[in-house]
Amino acid sequence: MKLGFIGTGTITTSVIEGLLKSKAKIEQINISKRSKKNSLKLKKKSKKIKVYSENQDIIDKSSIIFVGLLPKVATKELKICKFKKGQIIVSFISTLNIKNLKTLCNPAKVIIKAAPLPMASDSLSPTIIFPNNKLIKSLFELIGSVVVAKNEKQNNHLWVMSSFMATYASIINLLKKYLLKNKIKNEDANKYLNIFLTGMLFEFNHHNFNLNKSIKSLQTRGGINEELLKRLQKDKFFKKMELNLNKIFLRLKKANDK
Ligand SMILES: NC(=O)c1ccc[n+]([C@@H]2O[C@H](COP(=O)([O-])OP(=O)(O)OC[C@H]3O[C@@H](n4cnc5c(N)ncnc54)[C@H](OP(=O)(O)O)[C@@H]3O)[C@@H](O)[C@H]2O)c1
Repeated sequence: MKLGFIGTGTITTSVIEGLLKSKAKIEQINISKRSKKNSLKLKKKSKKIKVYSENQDIIDKSSIIFVGLLPKVATKELKICKFKKGQIIVSFISTLNIKNLKTLCNPAKVIIKAAPLPMASDSLSPTIIFPNNKLIKSLFELIGSVVVAKNEKQNNHLWVMSSFMATYASIINLLKKYLLKNKIKNEDANKYLNIFLTGMLFEFNHHNFNLNKSIKSLQTRGGINEELLKRLQKDKFFKKMELNLNKIFLRLKKANDK
């Protein structure tokens, strides 16, 4: 299997790092020179990595082509590239729909949208794919787990989840900043939050991810968990979060309905 990646940015780099650590039977990985820092780093990791300046060279030498470009660049680049009928195209772009991709990558018929996350480098990416494809599903399963969307609407809703990463990190950062501001050593703040986050995941799993059960069991009546939750509910923290998730969905829907 010869894989090609157009655009060696954050997400492509994470996916390749994960695949290199996995048992995937890959003969060759053809990648873009851009970004230079990432392509140089990847090249040092494996002899299977070949770096090209021209995107057409990557396409000509690969059976599966992953597109890791920003939307506007992708539309411009894919328009001038020439694809073959039997090639599989996997797009990481949230706002380019299958119909447009089919036109841009004609005559390639198998077009998949996939949303791997940066945690792919540690084989911990939940990856959404649409439509289903056995080969592509099995590849992403090697670097985490795969959720197959049943239709475009479901695909958009699942992609909303990927918008939460920076907010999640910001919430944890707020906790960390609170500790630092109150003279807790950086090392101790990291130590506390690290095991706190991992432990919480185990706590959820104890209840089979029934989060209502967790929310209930994590609050002592009259305790500080109950108080903080009530204060945030009163401030409409969760309501605002929900409204904004809907706005992200509408942005994805609008772009994909075009
Ligand atoms: N990051 C995520 O968590 C994530 C998750 C799912 C999907 N996505 C989607 O995946 C796509 C890529 O995201 P990203 O975060 O990896 O972005 P990124 O880090 O900005 O990567 C884009 C890459 O494209 C390169 N590039 C620009 N023009 C090019 C050209 N003409 N030919 C070849 N390469 C070119 C850039 O190189 P230069 O630096 O040299 O310009 C850069 O390395 C986006 O559409 C994004 O929405 C991202």
